[in-house]
Formats: sequence, C-alpha cells, structure tokens
Amino acid sequence: MSRILFVCLGNICRSPLAEAAFRREVELAGLEVEVDSAGTGDWHIGKPPDPRAVDVAAKNGVAITNLRARQLAETDFTAFTHIFAMDHENLENIRAAMPGDATAQVSLLLDMVPGREGEAVADPYFGDDEGFALTWADVSEAAKALVWHLQRGG
Ligand code: 4NP
Repeated sequence: MSRILFVCLGNICRSPLAEAAFRREVELAGLEVEVDSAGTGDWHIGKPPDPRAVDVAAKNGVAITNLRARQLAETDFTAFTHIFAMDHENLENIRAAMPGDATAQVSLLLDMVPGREGEAVADPYFGDDEGFALTWADVSEAAKALVWHLQRGG
C-alpha cells in the first residue's frame, strides 16, 4: 500500500489542501492509500489550517477543520513511501533532514503532472484569497495525476 506525505513550510496552507484534495481523489478512485501532511517549520505545530485554506476547501466540498499542523519527523522517511514537497525550498529542507535509512521517494508535487515537472505550488500565505484558489487548482490537478500514477503501479 502506498503511504503519501505532503509537505510545505507551515502545514497550515498548501499541504493540508493537498492532503484534502488527494483524499477525495483516492476515495473517488476506490484506492487504499495512507495520507498525511507535515511542515518543515515548527511555528504552527498543533494549529488548525489557515482560515483561508479552510474556506477554499469548504467551497470545493471538503472539510479540513479537523487537521492539525505537525512538523516533518525523521521517522516519516521510512513510514511513508512518497514524500511530496510543494516548492523547491521545501524540497531542499526535506532532503537536508533525510536520514541515512530513508526509503521514501522525495520529489516536487507538480512533478506528477505531465508538463509541469519542476514547478512549485506557490506559497499563498502572504497573499489573498485568489492565491488560495490557485493553490487548490494546483493541488487538485496534482492529486488527480498522482492517483493516475498510483493506479499504474506507483
Ligand atoms: P504553508 O504556508 O507552508 O503552505 O502552510 C505558510 C504558512 C505559514 C508561513 C509561511 C507559509 N509562515 O511564515 O508562518
């Protein structure tokens, strides 16, 4: 079974939305996949998602109010089969934290989307609602592509 971890900086905007969008696609596809999210930073540990993320998820039919931020842990590198970074800074920080016995595949989330390899899911935190709508569009597109990928053997 695939075990997927989505990682951003704070774990209150992008990765909870990626987690929510992917959970929905997994359910629609009838797959059995373990899903979680985390942040590379520690500022928001224990906090619920940003209200703007809650709003955009709710507008798209997904409730994320129950999620709580946590920080990426060393054990995640063996507990998960895939770790997806939202942007290049996250990717660098994840790679820097990777222990020697890591088994997870680490990559950018948008690498899953044909034609968008190497692109980042932009940080919406210091922006407005439009930024969050764009985040939702990006993570939804990636979630569909990731399900397609997993259905073909991961
Ligand atoms: P996220 O967004 O990484 O998508 O959860 C951010 C959340 C908090 C901060 C930056 C980005 N911050 O600077 O506190």
